[in-house]
Amino acid sequence: MEHIILDGKLLSRKIKNGIKESISNFAVKPGLAVIEVGSDPASEVYVRNKEEACNYVGIRWEKIKMPENTQPEQIFAEIDRLNRDPGTNGILVQFPLPISLKSLEEKVIYAIDPKKDVDGFHPYNVGQYVSCKGSTCKNLLLPCTPYGIVRLLEEYRIPIAGKYAVIVGRSNLSGKPVSLLLLNHDATVTICHSKTLNIADYTKQADILIVAVGKPNFIDESFIKTGVVVVDVGINLTDSGFVGDVNFDRVKDKVTAITPVPGGVGPMTIAILLENVLKAFFLQGNH
Ligand SMILES: NC(=O)c1ccc[n+]([C@@H]2O[C@H](COP(=O)([O-])OP(=O)(O)OC[C@H]3O[C@@H](n4cnc5c(N)ncnc54)[C@H](OP(=O)(O)O)[C@@H]3O)[C@@H](O)[C@H]2O)c1
Repeated sequence: MEHIILDGKLLSRKIKNGIKESISNFAVKPGLAVIEVGSDPASEVYVRNKEEACNYVGIRWEKIKMPENTQPEQIFAEIDRLNRDPGTNGILVQFPLPISLKSLEEKVIYAIDPKKDVDGFHPYNVGQYVSCKGSTCKNLLLPCTPYGIVRLLEEYRIPIAGKYAVIVGRSNLSGKPVSLLLLNHDATVTICHSKTLNIADYTKQADILIVAVGKPNFIDESFIKTGVVVVDVGINLTDSGFVGDVNFDRVKDKVTAITPVPGGVGPMTIAILLENVLKAFFLQGNH
């Protein structure tokens, strides 16, 4: 079966160029601050990618690097400073925090001013998209990966309304929020997780299958029906490089559209982050 590649790299470039163009006309440039605690190698790569993307579009970038043995009060003092700084429009604390500080993650999310919460994790922002409907939702600070998925589906004119969407994975980062965004777009939604019995009974019915489990090649052709649209959120480092949660080669002949890994959802996450910085800039009364 011929299939469309949902090219997140291409769409992300298009979004970034649009943002760059808008910002070039601003007298005051929007600013993003990133707090990085400790030195997790994967996080360092993600932070570097975000910095490069900000530089490309003209968003001012501030990185606050804190050592692994940082005291909780120092992190909250920094968030407080950034909350009050009018030149900082977006605040992001790179997760995961080091093991010794891991239990603080929820408190950290709560501490960020919701108007500067460009990750879209603060309960205020979560509440907003839980209760929004239709086109008003897109003006909110939506979580980057889930909204990136919706934008990718929209770009390729994949119908969502009335479709049966199955999401495998229920993390607060991807599975849960993408299910709500698809519901807001009038899909009928089922979420599967590690305690779901006979996952294939659900995934085989899906018109749209979103997979966010963090297990290399978890989904193969036996989990899907012919004609499904597959979005692979997974990024797993294996001996053969980065692979998704979906076995691309084994499903590709059965799908109508699929995201590649890398080059699918990953670049969309960064593009939406940049959009959120711009949204936050406007929310704070600029321009
Ligand atoms: N592309 C991007 O920008 C991006 C962004 C975020 C994450 N990711 C990647 O996406 C993957 C998932 O990450 P995440 O943070 O969303 O999720 P996560 O926190 O790693 O949680 C995994 C989810 O998968 C479920 N799960 C695990 N084993 C399962 C099984 N055998 N059957 C069904 N469900 C199972 C878990 O269920 P329980 O809840 O029952 O434990 C959990 O809900 C990772 O590879 C991550 O690196 C990529």
